[in-house]
Amino acid sequence: KNIVILISGSGSNMAAIVRRAQQEQWSERLHARVSAVISNKADAQGLAFAREQGIATAVLDHKAFDSREAFDAALKVEIDRFEPDLVVLAGFMRILTPGFVAHYAGRLINIHPSLLPAFTGLNTHQRAIDAGCRFAGATVHQVTAELDHGAILAQAVVPVLPDDTADTLAARVLTQEHRIYPQAVAAWLRSQG
Ligand code: GRF
Repeated sequence: KNIVILISGSGSNMAAIVRRAQQEQWSERLHARVSAVISNKADAQGLAFAREQGIATAVLDHKAFDSREAFDAALKVEIDRFEPDLVVLAGFMRILTPGFVAHYAGRLINIHPSLLPAFTGLNTHQRAIDAGCRFAGATVHQVTAELDHGAILAQAVVPVLPDDTADTLAARVLTQEHRIYPQAVAAWLRSQG
């Protein structure tokens, strides 16, 4: 099975999945591997990590396309070169068109840094702090045409501490993301038989 991971920045969630695949020997035990890491940003730091791991990489700069549909169509061609069984969005900061989402229905997942359905969208940590939340966290979910609304696959909860800033809370959540995302990918692969 081929896993294609899409990133836009540090790619720490992608790296966590790659490392877990190596540690748990997914290629032998799940017949699955991370076949490609694709980014919309040429300077995404995660690309260097993927290349070091010998994983194929590609960059599609969304600014080189004159519409969201044109970018998504080119992205789909690039992704399908790797015949993906699962497409993993990991810090991929693009809203995808319904046509793209429909093409990957049921095999497109994302991680969002909040306890969905609370705090869809951006700046989730500051919003949780401003709302006086005692807990925050992350959610792995199926991607549907409605942003941050697909079926929930996994969640992790962390406490919000009185002196938390968005950065300290983000760091606490990110640690949990690196635990639940690889776990959710492996569970998804096992569910596919
Ligand atoms: C993380 O907060 C993740 O929840 C969100 O993007 C942020 C950075 O992720 N999707 P990564 O380090 O690029 O994996």
